Amino acid sequence: VSLQLQPNPEGLAQAASDFISEQVRTKPDLSILVATGHTPMPTYAELARRVEAGEVDFSRVTAVQLDEYLGIDDDDPRSLWGWMRRSFVQPLGITRTVRLKNPHQFEAAIRNLGGLDLAILGLGPNGHLGFNEPPSAMDAPTRTLELTPASLESNRAYWGELTVPAGAITAGMNLILAARQTLLLVSGVRKRGILHATLEGPETPEVPASFLRRTALTVIADGAAWT
Ligand code: F6R
Repeated sequence: VSLQLQPNPEGLAQAASDFISEQVRTKPDLSILVATGHTPMPTYAELARRVEAGEVDFSRVTAVQLDEYLGIDDDDPRSLWGWMRRSFVQPLGITRTVRLKNPHQFEAAIRNLGGLDLAILGLGPNGHLGFNEPPSAMDAPTRTLELTPASLESNRAYWGELTVPAGAITAGMNLILAARQTLLLVSGVRKRGILHATLEGPETPEVPASFLRRTALTVIADGAAWT
């Protein structure tokens, strides 16, 4: 595990952008699993700036959706695909995408890509990855599920007055843990306890993110999330 500590969220965004850009330069047709949520947004904005400046080229990258709510339209403000499109796919000039709508089609699409090269992940307050809620085993497949009360509560912060859909679909732990590189971005004091559990506690389905220690994992955290 490589743990890179940054003084603040701006430093995190720079370091994460350096890491991702380097991967894309090394393999221009990289396949990337893409988290939404708040933590990676400054990173995606910085990557968009670098694309605009001609410093890195994402035109051959394939962007793969990590998770989605069920029962909402693409243009619903709560759509995670919509969020990923606005924050990552469009600003980076990406034309190849894999949507997450049907577990079997999704897993077949990943196989056709030859697996995932990079998974960009945020850390759930309860240790979830995507919507792999605790408990999630290492081999938990891509599947639909009901969200836990904890996730409904934490996701409420994204949508204000809108209700949080109760059903979701997530890329499986199996696919995330098979990614050739994993990048976990963690920001803020509210993640401190779960980040320590992720990196120093037992590897357990109760903290799905703890299994990332079995992968080629880079963690980039700001000081508030670690000290
Ligand atoms: C989003 C996702 C979630 C978030 C996690 C952390 O696509 O999969 O697992 O990564 O809930 O969210 P933030 O970054 O908002 O703290």
